Amino acid sequence: MKAVVHQRYGPPEVLELKEVTNPVPGPRDLIIEVHAASVNRSDWEVLTGKPLYARVGGLVRPKQQILGTDIAGRVEAVGSEVETFKPGEEVFGDIMYHGGGAFAEYVRVPDTAPLARKPPTLGFAEASTLPQAGVIALQGVSGRVESHDRVLINGAGGGAGAFALQMAKMAGADVTGVDNGYKQAFIRSIGADDVIDYTQADYTKSGTYDLILDLVCERSMFAIRKAVAPGGRYRVVGGNTRSLLSAATVGRLLAFGNRDIGVLGVRPNRDDLLALAEMVATGALRVTIDRSYPLEGVTEALERLGEGRVLGKLVIEMR
Ligand SMILES: NC(=O)c1ccc[n+]([C@@H]2O[C@H](COP(=O)([O-])OP(=O)(O)OC[C@H]3O[C@@H](n4cnc5c(N)ncnc54)[C@H](OP(=O)(O)O)[C@@H]3O)[C@@H](O)[C@H]2O)c1
Repeated sequence: MKAVVHQRYGPPEVLELKEVTNPVPGPRDLIIEVHAASVNRSDWEVLTGKPLYARVGGLVRPKQQILGTDIAGRVEAVGSEVETFKPGEEVFGDIMYHGGGAFAEYVRVPDTAPLARKPPTLGFAEASTLPQAGVIALQGVSGRVESHDRVLINGAGGGAGAFALQMAKMAGADVTGVDNGYKQAFIRSIGADDVIDYTQADYTKSGTYDLILDLVCERSMFAIRKAVAPGGRYRVVGGNTRSLLSAATVGRLLAFGNRDIGVLGVRPNRDDLLALAEMVATGALRVTIDRSYPLEGVTEALERLGEGRVLGKLVIEMR
């Protein structure tokens, strides 16, 4: 089968389209014929080996040589002990913690991975955008926001941010979206009441918020704390290693005034996938696919992500 392989950390040019051996299922594995796989910032991080935590499992060379974690496809074969799915069923899910490898024609996935049946109304490309970015947004925002709360999404024009912003608006919040200047019109188009260009202004000096969801933390926790309203909540999802460590440690010490400051550890699961599919089916959640590429275009897709011009999501379509 064809797969996009990286044997060393580096820029998108280190990726190679190769002919590799087709995966064979163990007793509790599924083989998925991949129809679409979306691109996440985490793919960029594992490609480049930065931040350092992206090198888990391979400090010098990547252990997992095929990137891609968000899949939508058809079950091709199952091992003898698999009871969850049958060949022919259409599924989607996040295989980040189950070996990855979605930028390929087929991928082997253990039956413990969080996969859900893809509703027929949802296309493969749309379905592939939901697993990582949608679940981050759901767990970061849903049930955490009340009508008229002030919510700030840092990184609102990216994959998780664009979903999170829409979910905060659904709950009736007043939402500020932060991202680069190129993405401001897009962020407004999906519902932001206010926008901040991070290259021009510092959101930690723009007022206080009841919820801040930070997809790309680069600020000190001391600065961030000033932007969290009393009783408010701050959750960091991604960013540099220092910021994540600082949120988990110093953040707790700064949480006085009934503020809740910490890291969002996302737990991929089937129920959230189905909830997201339902939101898309009812029109409550809009999926924005900036561009889609064939498998041969993974390098180009990751170059575009690195250039900071992706509005919402990029998708690789194999079929
Ligand atoms: N905590 C967990 O359990 C967990 C699980 C999965 C993933 N993650 C992490 O979640 C993070 C976000 O993922 P994603 O796929 O949504 O990323 P994404 O699509 O790249 O979105 C991030 C957005 O933030 C923007 N941005 C960059 N620097 C910024 C800054 N200083 N201030 C404000 N915005 C900035 C980016 O713009 P540019 O295009 O200009 O860069 C981009 O639009 C990743 O770091 C990933 O590793 C965490």
